[in-house]
Amino acid sequence: MPETLTITDNRTGKTYEVPIKDGTIRATDLRQIKFDELDFGLMTYDPAFMNTAACRSSITFIDGDRGILEYRGIPIEQLAEKSTYLETAYLLLNGELPTQSQLDEWTFNVTHHTILNEKLKLVLDAFRYNAHPMGKFISMISALGTMYPEAKNIFDYDNRQKQIQRIVAKVITIAAFGYRHMVGMPYAYPDNDLSYSENFLNMIFKTTETKYKPHPALAKALDVLLILHADHEQNCSTSTMRVVGSSHVDPYSALAAAAAALYGPLHGGANEEVIRMLTEIGSKDNVPAFIKKVKAGEGVKLMGFGHRVYKNYDPRAKIIKQVAYEVFEVTGKNPLLDIALELERIALEDEYFVKRKLYPNVDFYSGLIYQAMKFPMDMFPVLFAIGRTSGWLAQWQEMLLDADQKISRPRQIFTGSPRRDYKPISQR
Ligand code: CMC
Repeated sequence: MPETLTITDNRTGKTYEVPIKDGTIRATDLRQIKFDELDFGLMTYDPAFMNTAACRSSITFIDGDRGILEYRGIPIEQLAEKSTYLETAYLLLNGELPTQSQLDEWTFNVTHHTILNEKLKLVLDAFRYNAHPMGKFISMISALGTMYPEAKNIFDYDNRQKQIQRIVAKVITIAAFGYRHMVGMPYAYPDNDLSYSENFLNMIFKTTETKYKPHPALAKALDVLLILHADHEQNCSTSTMRVVGSSHVDPYSALAAAAAALYGPLHGGANEEVIRMLTEIGSKDNVPAFIKKVKAGEGVKLMGFGHRVYKNYDPRAKIIKQVAYEVFEVTGKNPLLDIALELERIALEDEYFVKRKLYPNVDFYSGLIYQAMKFPMDMFPVLFAIGRTSGWLAQWQEMLLDADQKISRPRQIFTGSPRRDYKPISQR
């Protein structure tokens, strides 16, 4: 069977044969299809990249119809059960699970890079008291990059690994300092005796104790949440990381841009919106009326439902639902849980949602856990960003080393005015 596609241009009657590789044709192969010599050549129009592969990647596999998510071939369910966030980050970044000595070295390096330059506290101080922690996170990542001018040497392997370690290490400190700044508490410094997730909880919640040790079940739950959020192939923020990184800027600047993309309510901001929605609904009894509003298409969405890729239950949502019960054992049940369960029950039976294949996504239950752990809502997208940092960096590195890649530069279909002359203001 020839792996080619035959195209007939009915404008000219000419026929073209283009190769098919991996179920894909190269968009640039269409450029030979011209109406006449002056024609630019055929393009594809794909707003929101609904059917365009922008890269070849060996990092994350998703089968949205079957609800499958794998990092480097390993199912997310196994990683959530057996791995740790730092081990999973290593897997994403390096392609293989680490040996014991590789894991020890990676853990040591991350643990010993968590301290921030003290000057960065002045950046935080410049923010207004009610600044959103995600805005602070984005700015702090960018400010952090200015401390390491050598980070621009992105094609130097050792330098790149150093920056990757630094970024993975310091995002928890940046996030925690942003939180302490928001609540007016003195900064708590990293403690090298603790694991990554424990250390983050230490910097968030430590008060006057000389040594803070979070509840193991809560530290484990956070670690699982970080694993589940670590990568999700070419989503909006990861594509941003790749596009911005394709200009060969340093990884801090690219990561700040990726975090900005994540902040939006249709992406990493959705977990915050879920809690707002559940709070607004107020009680189980109000769920049918809310569902009715969503279906009426009055601009109300069921936040935490639906996904561009998953047309089945998001496998992460299944794990998170389980983790939620484990967390509530320690913290007591989040009162919004009953509303969420009722929403899910009704939505999964309702024709509107069934027909559109709308299922709970990763954000539907994660906010309930964060809230039960006493994180304010504004911190939720920051928690997402911490987990996603390793994925962003893995994808950035893959993009840099991919000989097929160049600076990202989409085309457009120009719909504006044809050429015309400037009119002096008196004649307009
Ligand atoms: N509630 C109600 N209707 C919905 C929802 C929803 N959450 N999501 C999609 N629909 C409807 C939509 O109105 C459309 O209906 P119709 O065909 O009648 O016009 C149909 O389902 C298809 O939706 P779409 O907007 O074409 O789908 P999309 O792939 O462009 O959007 C999405 C995906 C995630 C942006 C969207 O489902 C959504 O806005 N969900 C709520 C926000 C959310 O939970 N986001 C988190 C995503 S997962 C984590 C992450 O990636 O950050």
